Amino acid sequence: MPGPLLDTLKGSIPDVPPVWLMRQAGRYLPEYRELRAEKGGFLELVYDSEAAAEVTVQPIRRFGFDGAILFSDILIVPHAMGQGLEFLAGEGPKLSPTLLEAKLEDFTADHTRFDPVYRTVQLTRQQIGDRVTMLGFAGSPWTVATYMIAGQGSKDQGPARLMAYRDPKRLEAIISAIVDVTIGYLRGQIDAGAEAVQLFDSWAGSLAPDQFERWVIAPNAKIAAAIKSSHPDVPVIGFPKGAAAHLPAYVRETGVDAVGLDETVDPHWANEALPEGLPVQGNLDPLLVEAGGAALPERVATIVRAVEGRPHVFNLGHGIGQFTPIEHVEQLLRALRG
Ligand code: CP3
Repeated sequence: MPGPLLDTLKGSIPDVPPVWLMRQAGRYLPEYRELRAEKGGFLELVYDSEAAAEVTVQPIRRFGFDGAILFSDILIVPHAMGQGLEFLAGEGPKLSPTLLEAKLEDFTADHTRFDPVYRTVQLTRQQIGDRVTMLGFAGSPWTVATYMIAGQGSKDQGPARLMAYRDPKRLEAIISAIVDVTIGYLRGQIDAGAEAVQLFDSWAGSLAPDQFERWVIAPNAKIAAAIKSSHPDVPVIGFPKGAAAHLPAYVRETGVDAVGLDETVDPHWANEALPEGLPVQGNLDPLLVEAGGAALPERVATIVRAVEGRPHVFNLGHGIGQFTPIEHVEQLLRALRG
């Protein structure tokens, strides 16, 4: 019997919205920090399936969330495409050589890098109950490309946006290669036990309208269609962060089954603007969870009311921050579940 999260992604409306939080496994949890210190680093943790499954399950054990999101990273895809990947403490990810210095053809792909991730999904699926939904994910091609091109996080995604204007054919080839690898990667996660998958497009918001069509909508539509053709029962959640007024077009044209709203989206507006019955996910401000206080339960209630009558998966508008007190997550859950 599937759990309330999967049911909601397929159109049901339970009395209390199911809930999971982006980045729910991570540094705000002491048990995560302990295991990470033991393994020596983030990538060591990701490629150690037993440890990654343990990290995936930690927030379920502690909070009873309705979904377990695979513990991995969107940059595992470039790594499997042959780009060097490091996570330096306090500096974030570094990919080398960048796609300004090198071409995709210079890389030697190694798709066996996905194997431990699939194993993590299998091990996690065995440890969580039937009513907890196993969520897989990948980065969306545009967001992944911004890191592959700049080699790291970049201000306003400038290097990738410049390539889009100067040499769109080159960007097209990069995006199309990411699309192909991502389809295989998501199918692998689903075959290992993922029951729904989320596409993270964290930098969708930096593009001009025609560019948004080409680099956000088109590649996500290809991925959603491929998953639909091979695994028609597996919902695809699109999360185009910063898409704002593009959200209705994104939903219509990509064919995603559910859409994640970031915290800048007014849920009342979204409820009016999005197709009737389309499941939405979100959208509490992660910084309000960090701050806590009376405004937290009030905002939870406002969001729930705004999308009442529509399938709603409660979540944050973006990942939970590392300095979030655990009691504030408990406060959120009390506000939601009573
Ligand atoms: O949601 C989850 O808990 C699942 C695991 C997950 C991680 N990253 C773990 C992680 C997911 C879904 C991601 C997605 C991700 N990774 C995105 C898209 C979503 C978003 O947050 O915008 C992006 C852009 C990345 C790339 C990335 N990974 C960056 C820029 C960083 C460094 C910044 C930071 O927060 O540390 C990471 C590292 C990372 N990915 C950590 C975790 C738990 C922190 C690693 C650590 O130091 O322990």
